Amino acid sequence: MRSFSTIALLGSSIGSAVASIVPRQTGSLPVVSVKGNAFFTGDKRFYIRGVAYQPGGAADAQDPLLDIPSLKRDIANFKDLGINTIRVYTVDNSKNHDEGMKLLDDAGIYLALDANTPDYSLNRESAQTLHRSYNDVYLQSVFATIDAFADYNNLLVLFSGNEVINAKNNTNAATYIKAVTRDMKQYISNRHARKIPIGYSAADVAENIEQQALFFNCGTDDERADFFAFNDYSWCDPSSFQKSGWDAKVKLYQDYSIPLFLSEFGCITNTRQWGEIAALYSTNMSAVYSGGLAYEYTVEPNGFGLVTVDSSSGKIEPNADFDRLKAAYKKTSNPTGDGGYKQDGEPSQCPPEDDEWQVTSTLLPSIPKKALSFMTDGAGDGPGLDGDGSHFAGETSSATATPGSGEPSGTAAAAGNADGTGAGVSVAVPLRFVGMIVASVLFGVVLVL
Ligand SMILES: *[C@@H]1O[C@H](CO)[C@@H](O)[C@H](O)[C@H]1NC(C)=O
Ligand SMILES: *[C@@H]1O[C@H](CO)[C@@H](O)[C@H](O)[C@H]1NC(C)=O
Repeated sequence: MRSFSTIALLGSSIGSAVASIVPRQTGSLPVVSVKGNAFFTGDKRFYIRGVAYQPGGAADAQDPLLDIPSLKRDIANFKDLGINTIRVYTVDNSKNHDEGMKLLDDAGIYLALDANTPDYSLNRESAQTLHRSYNDVYLQSVFATIDAFADYNNLLVLFSGNEVINAKNNTNAATYIKAVTRDMKQYISNRHARKIPIGYSAADVAENIEQQALFFNCGTDDERADFFAFNDYSWCDPSSFQKSGWDAKVKLYQDYSIPLFLSEFGCITNTRQWGEIAALYSTNMSAVYSGGLAYEYTVEPNGFGLVTVDSSSGKIEPNADFDRLKAAYKKTSNPTGDGGYKQDGEPSQCPPEDDEWQVTSTLLPSIPKKALSFMTDGAGDGPGLDGDGSHFAGETSSATATPGSGEPSGTAAAAGNADGTGAGVSVAVPLRFVGMIVASVLFGVVLVL
């Protein structure tokens, strides 16, 4: 399929240097948006059928979307597996991703992307490092990642954090993660026509996972996440809907008002038969869950993985686990209709502080003052993977925020249409569009005036 990039220009300038345009997205896949507690493309329910994709692992993180020969090779396997989504944990936000994103788009594959990198992230070491690492240099990188990917139709969701909370003594990171979620939503509202879903990917911590789910979906709308995801390794084959405890989780989250999905799954205690695929995409779960991502594509030292990579030749070899996952996906189709989703759920109540949830206040830190200018001027170039890092850089938050203060603040219009066409929405033309138009012409795509 061809990829179209369409930019419609509407009306004249808002100010002296900016014109009012309706940016359209790049790519031919329909944009996925949130409706109630589910994802949709148009009026069709969308389930994530995916795999985590970070060859080489997190330690010396490389951007897998820039290695085009390997990506092409791997996309052939994604198609063979029958998936529609990959999750990537680290990208280089200083680079252009048109080529890799188009290859994925052509293959029918969406991207669930982490907005953080090892060096540009929150530092959960202590209360002090948490506060210190929530700064404008960090947010600049996060926002630059948004800018680098926002125009791709097949960008599915962005994660505002991954497994930051992994014990009860760092549950206090929750207000910072939620502040980042709020800031990302505000930045998107101010700078982009499409409402890209933003949410957190939580670790499999039984003691407080429910509190995390509630916390990210409570409070004012500007602070609430658009979805919640958690990594779940509790289904260890041979298992079942009941034995895994997944039946209890469906009950637990039955009133949850935003989409839930598994940002990682696939317990390797015993040989994986991938029995959870049949459950996850059945009506036992579809009223509450929207699928998930099997962990993970390449075999890494941690022992998960569907393909082995020969480091000298670069050749990859799908293993028996790959074949079983492929078979499981193949024999399991999505539920018909809307899967019993809920359109009008209520936001959650914020969880009370207790021994497992050491979050003393629902008030969030205010955005660091120096980061406010990004809302009107844009974030500028991303630092990429070779930057100096943000953990101890820049300027931190100086106060707690008034709930609701993360609403769109700029002159640019608020959220675009859910279908991503953004018709009627006017947005200040950031400079990047100038480059995009040139690139679009080079790719021979259609421009609609
Ligand atoms: C949390 O507890 C672990 C294990 O006891 C400890 O290593 C870590 O330093 C603690 N973190 C904080 C923020 O106190
Ligand atoms: C759905 O739930 C029923 C009853 O709890 C169970 O017997 C059945 O195996 C489940 N189906 C799947 C596909 O897990």
